[in-house]
Amino acid sequence: MNRIKSGITGLDTLLDGGFIEGSVNLLTGGTGTGKTIFCCQFLWEGLQKGESCVYITLEESPEDIKEDVANFGWDFSKYEKKGLFKIIYHDPAHVNNLSRSIISEIKELKAKRLVLDSVSVMGLVINDSSQIRKSILNIINTIKHQDSCTTLLVSEVEEDKKALSRFGVEEFVVDGVILLNYMGIGEEYNRSLMVRKMRRSNHGKDVYPFEINREGIHVKKAD
Ligand SMILES: Nc1ncnc2c1ncn2[C@@H]1O[C@H](COP(=O)(O)OP(=O)(O)O)[C@@H](O)[C@H]1O
Ligand SMILES: [Mg+2]
Repeated sequence: MNRIKSGITGLDTLLDGGFIEGSVNLLTGGTGTGKTIFCCQFLWEGLQKGESCVYITLEESPEDIKEDVANFGWDFSKYEKKGLFKIIYHDPAHVNNLSRSIISEIKELKAKRLVLDSVSVMGLVINDSSQIRKSILNIINTIKHQDSCTTLLVSEVEEDKKALSRFGVEEFVVDGVILLNYMGIGEEYNRSLMVRKMRRSNHGKDVYPFEINREGIHVKKAD
């Protein structure tokens, strides 16, 4: 089984070596917990290894994302020019052709890594919850069939709810689930991460503190 390095400092040992090649992994957490930074760090790692990567955003504009992470020294435009990287805004209102679009982008770039950020916004454009679930299942199943592409799927959850995903279906069909937290403990705010599910892996079972510093996300050892 091939393991794909996450690029997140300190995380791969908790994942039994990294993400399984071709797996679809859900990255979930409240707003501002670091999901978009995590995704960019994952893709940046791939680009450093010469792998082609695709970022599909349903939320923020590609320009905003690239600008946000330029602070970490990640110059995605350089790789766009080389044809190794593509960041695409997909209007969530056009969910019907999302699967088709994902597949054609993966095929065109022969992408090894894919990010879809985030599926939660579909709730804004589709009212019927069973329809949303159907659409999301369809998208996840489509991505799963791309065997050599490893995927991060972002789902934003509300802070106070215990749910792992927005629509309650994502976590069941994916291969792995990583939960990001930003919790106030007394006066202090602390970031932490949990590997909630990782198929075929002896993964870390604790809550691991992490920080976002100038180099991106850094997972500290649990004490
Ligand atoms: N250079 C940085 N150093 C430290 N923390 C940062 C830096 N840039 C962003 N952050 C933190 O990351 C948060 C945004 O992370 P982001 O990945 O966009 O969150 P999400 O996608 O989960 O909403 C900011 O609110 C801020 O707390
Ligand atoms: Mg985000």
